[in-house]
Amino acid sequence: MELDLHALEARTRYKVLTGSIVPRPIAWVSTVDRNGIANLAPFSFFNGVSHDPPIISISLLHEPGRSQMKDTLQNILSSGEFVVNIADETLAQAMNETATDYPSHVDEFAMAGLTAVPGSKVCAPRVAEAPISMECRLYGLLPIGTEQSGATLLLGEVLLMYVRDEIIDERFHIDIRKLRPLGRLAGSDYTYVHETFSIVRGHYDPASGTVVPLKG
Ligand SMILES: Cc1cc2nc3c(=O)[nH]c(=O)nc-3n(C[C@H](O)[C@H](O)[C@H](O)COP(=O)(O)O)c2cc1C
Repeated sequence: MELDLHALEARTRYKVLTGSIVPRPIAWVSTVDRNGIANLAPFSFFNGVSHDPPIISISLLHEPGRSQMKDTLQNILSSGEFVVNIADETLAQAMNETATDYPSHVDEFAMAGLTAVPGSKVCAPRVAEAPISMECRLYGLLPIGTEQSGATLLLGEVLLMYVRDEIIDERFHIDIRKLRPLGRLAGSDYTYVHETFSIVRGHYDPASGTVVPLKG
């Protein structure tokens, strides 16, 4: 089947893109508003962009018919700071609870029974129950499409990370079997991310004209 994305309805485009770009990591983003009310919501249009400097990206979709921007976007635009928490399998229900479109004055930490810990370098709190949290400062943003149906792509610089001691070793390797993060698929589907296999990448050695295993 050939799909001309421009000829498809927006909903159908969403279905084929989110069904194809899988599994997606989930940024469980905590922020705080001007009145000090905490906010927490998941975003799976999320990825790493670079490590030097350490930059991540999150895309916040503008929902047609919704007059106000998402609380997360509003809070990041006003404070310039946020925390990306990583949810593990045990936090799936709580993560889902925080995706509810509560009014701005509702603190999703309280709704989902989670503990907010004050940030060290940012005003936003982190989720105490999450195995990994990244304190971020807004690095840049790119408006995409229109205010009605587009998105705002946010880039964040990671200033500080919390990694639960049991999942990281002294060589800074994070154990995926202990982390057990959630992967997002299409619709309401998720996947586990703890079955792995390895393939060593090759490096072309001009001296011998052969491909040798890349070290490290
Ligand atoms: C697993 C998951 C992933 C999501 N990913 C995104 C996303 O990438 N971008 C987005 O705009 N909304 C996404 N959503 C929807 C937001 O979480 C939802 O709109 C939420 O109510 C926003 O909260 P806020 O208004 O407090 O910021 C996702 C929801 C779930 C459950």
